[in-house]
Amino acid sequence: MSDRRAIIIDTDPGQDDAIAILLALASPELEILGITTVAGNVPLELTTKNARKICELAGRPETPVHAGASRPLMRRLVTAEHVHGKTGLDGPDLPEPTMPVQPQNAVDFIIDTVRAHPDGHVTLCPLGPLTNIALALIKAPDIAPKIARIVLMGGGFFEGGNTTPAAEFNIYVDPHAAHTVFTAGVPIVMAPLDVTHKALTSNARLDALRAKGTPVCDAAAALLDFFDRYDEEKYGTDGGPLHDPCVIAYLLRPELFSGRDCHVAIETGSELTMGMTVVDWWRVTKKPANANVLREIDATGFFDLIVERLARL
Ligand code: RIB
Ligand code: CA
Repeated sequence: MSDRRAIIIDTDPGQDDAIAILLALASPELEILGITTVAGNVPLELTTKNARKICELAGRPETPVHAGASRPLMRRLVTAEHVHGKTGLDGPDLPEPTMPVQPQNAVDFIIDTVRAHPDGHVTLCPLGPLTNIALALIKAPDIAPKIARIVLMGGGFFEGGNTTPAAEFNIYVDPHAAHTVFTAGVPIVMAPLDVTHKALTSNARLDALRAKGTPVCDAAAALLDFFDRYDEEKYGTDGGPLHDPCVIAYLLRPELFSGRDCHVAIETGSELTMGMTVVDWWRVTKKPANANVLREIDATGFFDLIVERLARL
């Protein structure tokens, strides 16, 4: 397909990251130039192992996986084993990966890949803390105007935070990296908790996945069965929010989403609100918009897309 969209997925798998990666691997509209891993849900060694497990589950062991930052720019690493389990990919028992980790580190891979393609060709898809993206922009500021877009899962505003009352996990873990990314001048599409909390898995939606009867769909359902339990208990809902696949679904079917161009600033001073994404939704500051902030989703269309695509693997 000549109009395939070239993407780099930056990720901290994580069950929801896994579904996002599977959705991308199942979608011929996307050319995955590489997967870069970052410390987040679990330490870097595990996120890098998990990314390879997912590629092999999808039957795509040729996918380049590059390991990146093992900790945030300035703060100590905060992980989320209580959500994702000690492996970061609890649920199904996936085999140890045999595919290699690429020798080039993730940051240099991002820099070299963006430089090697025409301006506006490569889209970055961060699904975890923004440490790798920030390091690439700091090390090679020349890539900023060459990046097509950064389509990321992170932040929250009307929905508040999921790690502190003010901050969502990806931004909270590395707020300084997020500040670097949101002030780099690269076009951003932001999928915050305000939209991901409207994309709830449910027993019926997981049943639809299981009904496909394929190894990938069975594994995906098992991943989500485990992942959901924490948020179901926390929010008292049938099912939990499916965060990271919103990034890939936006690339495939942007019409499933709606949002608004807003100025977004990142709190990096106050410990009380550290990592808060301050979204000027009502444009009271008159500051220029630096992100398209998604707030609505067609959840039925979203899950139909996921089930249809994962069944292809
Ligand atoms: O807050 C949700 C985000 O944090 C998701 O990306 C999830 O995988 C975790 O990284
Ligand atoms: Ca993630």
